[in-house]
Amino acid sequence: MLKLLTIDEAQVYVSKARAAQRLVGIVPTMGALHAGHLSLVRQCRQQCDETIATIFVNPTQFGPNEDLNRYPRTLDEDLQYLLREGANAVFLPTAEEMYPDGFSTYVEPGEVARPLEGICRPGHFRGVATVVVKLFHALPAHRAYFGRKDYQQAKVIQAMTRDLNLRISIEICEIVREPDGLAMSSRNRYLSPEDRARALLLRQALLVARSLARNGVSSISQLEHAMQRVLNGQSDHSQQSGVDSIDYAVVVDAETLLPISSLDRDAVALIAARVGTTRLIDNEPLTPSSFT
Ligand code: PAJ
Repeated sequence: MLKLLTIDEAQVYVSKARAAQRLVGIVPTMGALHAGHLSLVRQCRQQCDETIATIFVNPTQFGPNEDLNRYPRTLDEDLQYLLREGANAVFLPTAEEMYPDGFSTYVEPGEVARPLEGICRPGHFRGVATVVVKLFHALPAHRAYFGRKDYQQAKVIQAMTRDLNLRISIEICEIVREPDGLAMSSRNRYLSPEDRARALLLRQALLVARSLARNGVSSISQLEHAMQRVLNGQSDHSQQSGVDSIDYAVVVDAETLLPISSLDRDAVALIAARVGTTRLIDNEPLTPSSFT
């Protein structure tokens, strides 16, 4: 597996692969790889001739009070995983390579970046959009693989790709979960055993919303209320204390992420909550019961 350290090396590598008629896919990550990331690598390998992962803990997407410094860095392990998955190359730029002195141009994402994470983490999607477009230019691949785990991020990247006419196809892959349902995340390693048990409440809340929707409940306030009860440990489903705080637990339009009052179209339930000091997110698409 080749290590690409500079943008120049990355661009030359992809140009050669494209000249050799190879279909090139990239999998952008911030490292601390787990089975969720590796499922993207696997899907890329199945669909492309050339699979290039990227590992870069992007400083511009972290707020001043966020966990940039304590974000897990496990490079040796990450490289072993990627090798085992059969990635052809990995792009490992330094912060100086991506953001040299004098860097001052950013991508301002549009409407879909505004609600939810846009409110809780101001500037986050500006950092994500900027680094993703830079990665697309460093590695001008045919396809890029992202996870539905970060639902709003996927929508922001799809909108940016469309709005800026980027010549790359965005592939969104399913959420990989632990056997008990917790969505895999690099941040799960911060959870104490007690927090780990409460972290399951996110999944339980989403499943309650899904089953209510399947049983014909279409009132959004009823669905949101039910999720909040589970998250607060007040439902029959959980005999334990709730999460420490809820940033949001909502059901919104699946495309725009704007509020709706009734489940009369494709929607998505989205949760962001804090358990201990760890902020967790998860989501579940919901369709009106009359569709299914
Ligand atoms: P990171 O959190 O490392 O995630 C990299 C990719 O893995 C994202 O597309 C994310 O949605 C996907 N992913 C994470 N957990 C997953 C799971 N349990 N199942 C399926 N996919 C999962 O997201 C980022 O990095 C960054 O914002 C990035 C896009 C790399 C830009 O810096």
